[in-house]
Amino acid sequence: MEQTFIMIKPDGVQRGLVGEIISRFEKKGFSLKGLKLISVERAFAEKHYEDLSAKPFFNGLVEYIISGPVVAMVWEGKNVVATGRKIIGATNPSDSAPGTIRGDYAVEIGRNIIHGSDAVESARKEIALWFPDGTVNWQSSLHSWIYE
Ligand code: TYD
Repeated sequence: MEQTFIMIKPDGVQRGLVGEIISRFEKKGFSLKGLKLISVERAFAEKHYEDLSAKPFFNGLVEYIISGPVVAMVWEGKNVVATGRKIIGATNPSDSAPGTIRGDYAVEIGRNIIHGSDAVESARKEIALWFPDGTVNWQSSLHSWIYE
């Protein structure tokens, strides 16, 4: 089954949105497979965002991610990478539809609350980076009520 890496950024943690965000993924029917509250070092944040290292906003982005604890999660389910991105909403909260996490709770692109992997391959890399010891292997007893 497909997995994605979801991170609640420092602003989401500070603003008390952890429960709300987890609830949206749970209620959708996705399964939580990994979860931790963690403060990351600069080099780790730079590694996570290495594909963006040439961008003008890179340094500000890294400063933001290391400015407080984040919640790192692995969520599993059918099409969870693409559907997770829909639940999260467009990168710039000015463009994120109401009903999405960024559309409902964020105003600026540099404080957009949450990260979600953009492809199955990047999800695999990000899960390996953030959860080097692996994740928990379990299946919800509701499985047959969510999948036919
Ligand atoms: P990106 O991977 O393009 O977006 P997403 O998080 O939706 O996959 O960019 C990573 C983060 O970088 C984005 O969530 C917010 C930040 N960012 C800026 O601060 N300014 C920008 O102009 C862009 C494109 C992104």
